[in-house]
Amino acid sequence: MSKILVTGGTGYIGSHTVVELHNAGFEVIAIDNFDNSYPDVIENIEKISSKKLNFENVDIRDKAALKAFIAKHNDITAVIHFAANKAVGESVQFPLKYYENNVGGTVNLLQALQENNINNIVFSSSCTVYGEATPPVDENAPIPVAQSPYGNTKQICEEVLMDQTKASDLKVVALRYFNPVGAHDSALIGELPIGVPNNLVPFITQTAIGKREVLTVFGDDYPTPDGTCIRDYIHVVDIALAHVAAINYLLNKKYTEAFSVFNLGTGNGNSVLEVIQSFEKETGVKLNYKIGPRRTGDVVQVYASCEKALNVLGWKTERDLANCMTTAWAWEKALAAKNSSSN
Ligand code: NAD
Ligand code: UD1
Repeated sequence: MSKILVTGGTGYIGSHTVVELHNAGFEVIAIDNFDNSYPDVIENIEKISSKKLNFENVDIRDKAALKAFIAKHNDITAVIHFAANKAVGESVQFPLKYYENNVGGTVNLLQALQENNINNIVFSSSCTVYGEATPPVDENAPIPVAQSPYGNTKQICEEVLMDQTKASDLKVVALRYFNPVGAHDSALIGELPIGVPNNLVPFITQTAIGKREVLTVFGDDYPTPDGTCIRDYIHVVDIALAHVAAINYLLNKKYTEAFSVFNLGTGNGNSVLEVIQSFEKETGVKLNYKIGPRRTGDVVQVYASCEKALNVLGWKTERDLANCMTTAWAWEKALAAKNSSSN
């Protein structure tokens, strides 16, 4: 049985991926420093998987601790590297925090892996690397200058990883996620936005549950059919399953190049108003929303071409926008129930 290390394993996408790795029969060891997640995620993963999760609290910025941890687990066959900070606005305010954690942490990890001859890594990248591109966006689309320090850390990490494949036996799959949304069917794990969410779907569910008064739609005067921006919303469980496919691709040596990159999206774009309508239809909850000004930095429309992931990894999405809305809503309700019982 292959042993897979998951960094950021109690985070939003990490937790769902640990569950799917368990389902696929992999042995998993997860690390996190709980910077943006909580220890109770571990027991919730265990409840879903009916399996104990091997977990350690390790901060990837702590080079010595990370090296000692990897040396202790040098039977790891592949790593999925989620651990990073991901708030675009915060990265503009505190760029050094982002370069230290996202870039520095990745370099620390690669050094520890090289010392222990661990040569397979799946890296969390983002569609943000494409900036304002013409959809459907495929993996050959140009990578313009990044619009934020966060986006730049993803571009830099891809380059660091690519350079390291040329200098060693490292094999890399970089997965560029479009907009991950939704939650596990069990409503035991999901996204935990700390503070006021920036992203659309958590803002919708928090407004619907009464945590926020009103959702502001950022602009309805864009050159799109209904005037609101278009994104490719993809269910987090589909994203998790793509990581299992990427691990199989690496472990079965299906690659023809040492650095492979894949888009993870549905291939469909939905406007902000379409997402709101889908939420209202699927949940029966009327959403309080208003049209406001555009948000600085928003791209008009972006959605993926997912042909490469289908043809090479044999992966495609199985869940639709309706399922994203029902699971995100079930998760929000589960959080509210948990909070009211702990008050
Ligand atoms: P998340 O914040 O829920 O998960 C990241 C996890 O990493 C958290 O549990 C956090 O505590 C942990 N972490 C952060 N710094 C760490 C450190 N120094 N040491 C150990 N653990 C650390 O975020 P997510 O949505 O699950 O995102 C996972 C990855 O996917 C990130 O790299 C993110 O940039 C990337 N990504 C996310 C999205 C998205 O919209 N969610 C889109 C594209 C790419
Ligand atoms: C954000 C990140 C991007 C990241 C992506 C996926 C920014 C600038 N970009 O982009 O780096 O890769 O998430 O996680 O943060 N919207 C509203 N009202 C709201 C919130 C959002 O109308 O309260 C709209 C936005 O204008 C956008 C759409 O909803 O058109 C989606 O927004 P969001 O969830 O923040 O994702 P992205 O803008 O795609």
